[in-house]
Amino acid sequence: IMTEGEMEAELTSPPHVPKPVGNRTAMKLKLNMEIKEQEGTMTDGVKYTYWTFGGSVPGSFIRTRVGDEVEFHLKNHPDNKLPHNIDLHAVTGPGGGATSSLVAPGHEKVFSFKVINPGLYVYHCATAPVGMHIANGMYGLILVEPEGGLPPVDKEYYVMQGDFYTQGEYGAKGLQAFDMNKAIKETPDYVVFNGKVGSLTNGNELTAKVGETVRLFVGNGGPNLVSSFHVIGEIFDNVHIEGGSSINKNVQTTLIPAGGAAIVDFKVETPGTFILVDHSIFRAFNKGALGMLKVEGKENQNIYSGTIQEGIYLPEGGTIQKMPGGSNAKAVIPKRTIEEKVKIGKELFGTTCFACHQSEGQGIPNTFPPLAKSDYLNSDSKRAIKTIIHGLTGEITVNGKKYNNVMPAQNLSDDEIANVLTYIYSSWGNNKTEITPEMVKALR
Ligand code: HEM
Ligand code: CU
Repeated sequence: IMTEGEMEAELTSPPHVPKPVGNRTAMKLKLNMEIKEQEGTMTDGVKYTYWTFGGSVPGSFIRTRVGDEVEFHLKNHPDNKLPHNIDLHAVTGPGGGATSSLVAPGHEKVFSFKVINPGLYVYHCATAPVGMHIANGMYGLILVEPEGGLPPVDKEYYVMQGDFYTQGEYGAKGLQAFDMNKAIKETPDYVVFNGKVGSLTNGNELTAKVGETVRLFVGNGGPNLVSSFHVIGEIFDNVHIEGGSSINKNVQTTLIPAGGAAIVDFKVETPGTFILVDHSIFRAFNKGALGMLKVEGKENQNIYSGTIQEGIYLPEGGTIQKMPGGSNAKAVIPKRTIEEKVKIGKELFGTTCFACHQSEGQGIPNTFPPLAKSDYLNSDSKRAIKTIIHGLTGEITVNGKKYNNVMPAQNLSDDEIANVLTYIYSSWGNNKTEITPEMVKALR
């Protein structure tokens, strides 16, 4: 293919992508990318020193078309400490460009390549120790559109998963150093979309309107984990499997290999919040791999009509049947010291509440409210007891943030509720209220 003309490549940070190539001819694309080592936020109170292509994790999105000749200018910012390079999986040539692009801080390297295979490709740093450079965020996506471009859609977004290994456990505060041993064992503390917990929640949701078609360019930087990418409440109409030319239709979950990608698109038919997850589900609810797509517009009762009826289901001989008033309504209530309550309550929290409210009571933005320093909790202990007995639905405001979700009733005895709440009130900056089984009983 002949290349005509020259232009500067548009680069975008996630979740945005440059505008489609449409039916332009192949061209010479001048591409300027700067590597920056910079401190960023992994989650509330947790900092991490990211190494980035273009100042974001994942790095800037590159959009080309088949036949483009890319003149790649790779700059390593003078304040950086290390040399880096780039291996683009869209490149046919030694090291995918890595051998020509090793660049020291304060320097610039220029190399060029022609993109000849259409598809969605990962790029990453390949400087030793390679795993460490990738684990610190040095990856991104380069799209090579076919001649004439991909079919037009209404919304396009850039989402890329990565696993992170920190010296402290999930949520441990402060600046967290990279942990090489955890990386070798492949036991990440964080598995996230777009470089941090909450990059696509809490006001950063992806958005669309009912009736629109949405295309997600999904990548996985790894370094280690394979992603089972899924959108709760949606079915992918089309998936470019592994980012290539083969299209699979009507897919629930698509595998995104480490160092691989997929292009998925779907029409949004009903309003609501659709949740992007790695369906290796503890990663979503406990390590951060959770994003949101907010769809606004008119209800479509033909497609989804919500709850029609709710009834009580009591299976014959089922073990979940309990007497009203909890499992030990008639049992003698033991007298316990605060220390005993805290100890027993902590164990119960770790088996029952933490899956949603998280190990330090920090919650999950937009979904599960925090119990740590919760104004809602501290202002009304009777309400807290009732929340556990009956569950809670409807909009509430906790520490200035709105939640509108469902907490199921917890089938616990008076003693258990007293213990778990006493533990919660005695932890994470809460107001140390002591709850007794009698207080619980009085509210049944
Ligand atoms: C709300 C405690 C288990 C999901 C709350 C609140 C409390 C509480 C005190 C009020 C809001 C606040 O202070 O932040 C507990 C305790 C649990 C437990 C002690 C264990 C015994 C769970 C579980 C889930 C869950 C297992 C998820 C399946 C929620 C949700 C809300 C909430 C979604 C907000 C409800 C709304 O938006 O109206 N919880 N919880 N909780 N909890 Fe739990
Ligand atoms: Cu690097």
